[in-house]
Amino acid sequence: MSAPELAAVAQAMVAPGKGILAADESTGTIEKRFAGIKVESTEENRRAYRDMLFTTKGLGQYISGVILYDETIRQKSANGALFVELLANNGILPGIKVDTGAKDLALCAGEKVTEGLDNLAKRCAEYAKMGAKFAKWRAVISIGQYIPSSTCIAASAHALGRYAAICQAAGLVPIVEPEVLMDGDHTVHRCEEVTEWTLNAVYEALYLNRVTLEHSILKPSMVIAGKDCTEQAGVEEVAERTVRILKRTVPAAVAGIVFLSGGQSDEVATAHLNAMNQIFAYRLPWPLSFSYGRALQQPSLKAWKGAAANVAAAQSALLHRAHMNSLACLGRYSANEEKQALAA
Ligand code: 13P
Repeated sequence: MSAPELAAVAQAMVAPGKGILAADESTGTIEKRFAGIKVESTEENRRAYRDMLFTTKGLGQYISGVILYDETIRQKSANGALFVELLANNGILPGIKVDTGAKDLALCAGEKVTEGLDNLAKRCAEYAKMGAKFAKWRAVISIGQYIPSSTCIAASAHALGRYAAICQAAGLVPIVEPEVLMDGDHTVHRCEEVTEWTLNAVYEALYLNRVTLEHSILKPSMVIAGKDCTEQAGVEEVAERTVRILKRTVPAAVAGIVFLSGGQSDEVATAHLNAMNQIFAYRLPWPLSFSYGRALQQPSLKAWKGAAANVAAAQSALLHRAHMNSLACLGRYSANEEKQALAA
């Protein structure tokens, strides 16, 4: 892809009122999600589940792109079309997870670093040939008594910089995802501090690796208290703290910001995004949107339960969450919208 094409893809990913569906769970992760609905994680069940998601009528109205996993990008819909073709025909950009997972970081107890740089140029070239337009790499930062370490921040930022450069050279728009995990009992203030540190390191690494920011998307976590912290911040506080840190650390040239949900409940993730867009409407250099996995899929997965008879109900649950998050991108979501749309 040429530079103008990369810019166009990055902009299309964050078009007004649109966001990304993360459906790139690794085989291990989808097995855990399926265990929750008592469905066996066979290749055919994984294919049927993704087929249900991707054939949802009208999805392209709210969803600009879907992140696929290596197995999924090679799979077909029941009608015989490759998922990449099916999505492209519905005006949805196919993307691909290219990291190979977070592994223990040597000499740093309790911390991880994401692997996958080996052969990455070759794999990106193959994915681009298969029709992928963008890629994703997720780094994970844990908060604990003595962590994160500067070792973990530096190693994670370095890998994101190398990954993003390799993607752009191969003609893919990189989604740069440094996730500060919500596991633990840390305060919202500590999360804010760690998020600021992480994002500063990430943008330094992108600069060192010559990444064109206009052809990249950031996928951050929101600034929230650890899930075991007794004092949880309210929706507006989360919105204000998150945007404050993004303004301090993310260059205006970045094409857009799409949040991960990271274990927040679906409605809370929507409310947080909506509050950011409502409070800061038209006063930010980048669009703020979503790239949710669990917060988009959870109700759909529960409705599906592995049965073909439940496909229509599961699809309408997905479409509903996509619609609510689309409204949140525009700062137009409310609990009332949630109820009205469900009753309709
Ligand atoms: P969640 O929204 O479930 O955190 O998933 C998004 C994602 O792609 C994580 O890498």
